[in-house]
Amino acid sequence: MYSVAKLTDYSAAALDAAVRELLSALDAEAATVKSDAEWKAFRDRWMARKNGVLTLVNDLWLKAAPKDAKRDIGQRVNELKTQVEQTVESTQQRMQGGASSARLATDRVDITLPGIRRPVGAEHPVIKTLNEIVGVFRNLGYSVQEGPVIETDYYNFEALNFPPNHPARDTQDTLFVAKQGSKPARERLLLRTHTSPVQVRTMEAMKPPLRIVIPGKVHRNDPPDASHSPMFHQVEGLAVDTNITFGDLKGTLDHAMKALFGSSVKTHFRPSFFPFTEPSAEMMVSCFICGGSGKRGSEPCRPCKTTGWIEILGCGMVDPNVFEFVKGNGYDPKKVSGFAFGMGADRIAILKYGVDDIQLFFQGDVRFLEQWR
Ligand code: PHE
Repeated sequence: MYSVAKLTDYSAAALDAAVRELLSALDAEAATVKSDAEWKAFRDRWMARKNGVLTLVNDLWLKAAPKDAKRDIGQRVNELKTQVEQTVESTQQRMQGGASSARLATDRVDITLPGIRRPVGAEHPVIKTLNEIVGVFRNLGYSVQEGPVIETDYYNFEALNFPPNHPARDTQDTLFVAKQGSKPARERLLLRTHTSPVQVRTMEAMKPPLRIVIPGKVHRNDPPDASHSPMFHQVEGLAVDTNITFGDLKGTLDHAMKALFGSSVKTHFRPSFFPFTEPSAEMMVSCFICGGSGKRGSEPCRPCKTTGWIEILGCGMVDPNVFEFVKGNGYDPKKVSGFAFGMGADRIAILKYGVDDIQLFFQGDVRFLEQWR
């Protein structure tokens, strides 16, 4: 292997020969480099500060040279340095290029392998039910409105004719946002307990006539069990025009129930109370599980508790006191009338899909949710 020898002759011819010998050794060694490890050894042999060929050239040729030869030798040593660096670098590039072409020769894409599986999701059963209910009313010409889940006392209660401190508020098990005490009562924030506040918000924004459905999330301070959840979903409806009667309410809802549960279901209305409707009613549908008989074979029908009827929604004629709050936008209670209704979508989903625990809807277990794929 090449090694740097002391110079004895400093003539140009002798220097030329020494340089030529060095460079041909450099090229010959570079050509044998075949791996990363070999390249490192090659680099170190030529460029290491301690005992590298360049260092030896510097010591044995330049430093040892007589004064009058130093200039000439210094210049040649510099050229050698550049040449060595270039060769070391180009050898490394050859290594890298070689490695990637070697990889290309072996690593092929096997197009027969199965691709990456991206499972298709399923519409959540509650969302699916919300969409089905909304769809029935869209077909009747209703449009869809939404409103905030964090609501003010004014929209959730006051403008719906729940006066401050009225006992009807107690039925709503409200979750209040903390630290609202410094605000006027009507501005205090809470989690809306029903979708009814969107009735008022919509009437503030749109003039009559109006036909809207409002799907959305609501909250109540109910401890979770098989049929209760502190968060659940409602679909609200509101129709306002110049001549809306309780007959319109009954006809609309009877049609909607037949569209949702099948044409053989019957509806039944019972008096009820809501501050924002007068008169108010609860609507029952005949049990679409047992067909209204209260029995499934010889077993009692659980969904209707053997009564043959299922309570499905609250409804009524819009109370004139509610119109008073939006009178300025064309809702003069002497000129317009309307009906409203609100139903629990989760409960309807439970009945439609035979789910026995509302909690299953919100636990996010894919084994449960996959069933709607
Ligand atoms: N908002 C009422 C509730 O949550 C339901 C309802 C809506 C009743 C519209 C009458 C009219 O219980």
